[in-house]
Amino acid sequence: ELYLLYHGLLVPKETHSLESLKFAQDFTFKDDDVVAVVYPKSGTVWMQEILPLLLNGGDLTPIHTIPNWDRVPWLEEKRIELVVDKLASPRAMVSHLPYQLMPPSIHTSKAKVIYVMRNPKDVMVSSYFFHQMAGFLPDPGTFDEFMNTFLEGKVLFGKWTDHVKSWKQTELGDRIMHMTYEEMVQDLPAALKRMSDFLGRDLREETIQKIAEHCSFKTMKDNSMSNFSLVPKMYLDHDKSQFLRKGVIGDWKNHFSPEQRARFTSVIQKELENESFTLPWSLD
Ligand code: A3P
Repeated sequence: ELYLLYHGLLVPKETHSLESLKFAQDFTFKDDDVVAVVYPKSGTVWMQEILPLLLNGGDLTPIHTIPNWDRVPWLEEKRIELVVDKLASPRAMVSHLPYQLMPPSIHTSKAKVIYVMRNPKDVMVSSYFFHQMAGFLPDPGTFDEFMNTFLEGKVLFGKWTDHVKSWKQTELGDRIMHMTYEEMVQDLPAALKRMSDFLGRDLREETIQKIAEHCSFKTMKDNSMSNFSLVPKMYLDHDKSQFLRKGVIGDWKNHFSPEQRARFTSVIQKELENESFTLPWSLD
């Protein structure tokens, strides 16, 4: 069995333990902490590149010297305990947790959250290829089988709609900002500007441009501190698929049949039909 069950969520055993999940539950946020919360395959690693640069005014040292998992650690992963004390303030972290599993200190601190959402069809395609390369995840089976697994939420960190619902209705007020992967692909400098304003950083136009260049898909793909090439092949096999695979909007159109498209859309729409929010893009 490759997963732990944590409050009904499947969590990979290779990267998580009951201790690390408890560490996350007991975590004390500081007022100047920033956490990017991202459903898997929606831009987590991108945020690990972006956040240090926004917070340090564009100093490239961390993205060239520290692997992404130590630079901006996952709150709930095993390595957090090893690296958290080494993080310089303001600390940046990422998390895949749904809102209800955040530590209580998220409410008592002034820590800020950026929630990144991506079209679930592209998330599913990205996840399908990720399951092929990741030795610590089950074989995805056929594309059609994996679509069912994904829609049933029998994947790491559970159902996409549950995750999104949990983060769309929080009590965090102006301490949460919603970002989309698509917005970042379409106009990265504008997305960076919006994030830097939210984080209270007054960055000059040329600094934003420089950060955008260093966070481009191509530059990140060539950066061994960000492209996961340092991870042994038994965990991530880049001959099967690349972690930084395509980095585009709408790749699902190359993989979904008309029937799959209709089925996928109908399941997601049904699960969101009584919600008070609307998705920022059309699923199709
Ligand atoms: P694809 O598989 O569609 O290419 P996560 O980090 O949450 O696991 O998400 C991985 C997805 O984000 C992958 O999607 C990856 O290529 C994409 N990604 C990472 N960095 C990116 C960047 N700079 N520009 C565009 N997409 C990026």
